[in-house]
Amino acid sequence: MKILVAGGAGYIGSHTIVELLNSGYEVVCVDNLYNSKLKTIKNIVKIASKNIPFYKVDCTDKKKLEKVFLKEHFDTVIMFQGYKAVGESVKEPLKYYRNNIDSALTILELMDKYSVHNVIFSSSATVYGKNAKSPIKESDDALCLNEITNPYGETKAMIEKILMDKSNADKNFKAVILRYFNPVGAHSSGLIGEDPNGIPNNLMPYIAKVATNKLPYLNVYGNDYKTKDGTGVRDYIHVVDLAKGHVAALKCFKGNKNNLFIYNLGTGKGTSVLDLVNAYKKSNKLNVKYKIVGRRLGDIDKLYCNPKKANNELKWSAKLNIESMCESSYNFEKNN
Ligand code: WQD
Repeated sequence: MKILVAGGAGYIGSHTIVELLNSGYEVVCVDNLYNSKLKTIKNIVKIASKNIPFYKVDCTDKKKLEKVFLKEHFDTVIMFQGYKAVGESVKEPLKYYRNNIDSALTILELMDKYSVHNVIFSSSATVYGKNAKSPIKESDDALCLNEITNPYGETKAMIEKILMDKSNADKNFKAVILRYFNPVGAHSSGLIGEDPNGIPNNLMPYIAKVATNKLPYLNVYGNDYKTKDGTGVRDYIHVVDLAKGHVAALKCFKGNKNNLFIYNLGTGKGTSVLDLVNAYKKSNKLNVKYKIVGRRLGDIDKLYCNPKKANNELKWSAKLNIESMCESSYNFEKNN
């Protein structure tokens, strides 16, 4: 099976390519390197000791992307491409709608034209909106646009809707939607990991910068939430477990009469901000300075999932614990 990984030089895409190669799949990577580095492709090859064709192409550029479809005959596409900074999406909604929706539609139209029938879409727990009750099941109310607190999340919900309508109209078209909770950590080699441009928005990469003295301290956004220690609770999942979830999801394309699949990829465990800080300190034997400050706009108390559907149907579950997430995060940050 030959798989096109769109956005494959990114954080989750790169870890997924490693697992696909380890499982014997043929992979082609397309990425515009807007928020990723060519060095990552070289490191993927080093880790997997297998070469992969890489095309520096923007997935909204239909002419250039069509040349890749013409040259490489794909069986499946995994769509990671897209902007993903929640805060930036609030400030620049048009940039997010144009890029995320346009790139998805461009890929789907080329898939149609070249009879590529299978797609896995990198979605997000954000589609459950701010009123979702944890632990969240896939059948819970999702795509409630009015409750999603940012344009980034709304682009994810809209692309899910596009996939649902397309799979409804075309029984040959098969779509797997994977709703990630909070991906963290890095490959054990320390060669690939989460490497956001500038000051990190997300908790784990911010802690990593403090732990390596690149930032003075962590701002803990609020300790008055309805949680055991007052700080926000999330479902952190090791990026390698998440990558393996994509390999497991390929099963859906084999001999299934169903053609639309939706899965939460999470651990089913809630971890607070202070839990994570303490785990980071303990597992790496270092200090992480922090200050409790006011809440961040749009944040909610708790967000973690019920992963039973993926556990049962994909025969997949998250195996790596919080300590492993913290150790691998620190190991990557130290080396890069
Ligand atoms: C986690 C917790 C913060 C930073 C977002 C997107 C989601 C996905 C993951 C892409 C919260 C607290 C954070 C900091 C803090 N991204 N925090 N200080 O907001 O759960 O999810 O990233 O798919 O779609 O919504 O992740 O890591 O930003 O926050 O106290 O400097 O850490 O308040 O409780 P979030 P996060």
